[in-house]
Amino acid sequence: MFEQKSYSDDREKNYSTLLKQLEALIQDEPDRTANLANASALLNQFLDNINWVGFYIWKNTELVLGPFQGLPACIRIPAKQGVCGTAYSNNQTMLVPNVNEFPGHIACDARSQSEIVIPIVINGKVFGVLDIDSPILNRFDDVDQAQLEKFVHVLEKNI
Ligand code: SME
Repeated sequence: MFEQKSYSDDREKNYSTLLKQLEALIQDEPDRTANLANASALLNQFLDNINWVGFYIWKNTELVLGPFQGLPACIRIPAKQGVCGTAYSNNQTMLVPNVNEFPGHIACDARSQSEIVIPIVINGKVFGVLDIDSPILNRFDDVDQAQLEKFVHVLEKNI
């Protein structure tokens, strides 16, 4: 049974607890869908001020919606389109403080104001992206980016 931790005011420490929780959840399970589903649920209970967290997975010619928490979302995103397609095509984290100012942003949930998208690279190829949306501007900073990239590295090694 998953035991919900009470996190403290120390963000780095909280993220380090989160990484341990992720490893414990996924290390003995080979099923990718199950692991991504639990990873999205883990982030959803950890991060405050978010309205959507989940995965888009590259399938043949486009990103396709994977496990997530939040409102039903856009299912298919082509390369180079929106924040997700841009992060995918450039293999680079996209930290968007204000999605209203991002040309081509794809609005799946009208509440979203800021967003972070991190590519997931497996065997040298971009497998997909982790996408997190917030209903407030400037929700994500450098600490979130660095720590969420670590979260993705744990996934890359274990899924
Ligand atoms: N905003 C994303 C689309 C996915 S939703 O946020 C869940 C984008 O611009 O790619």
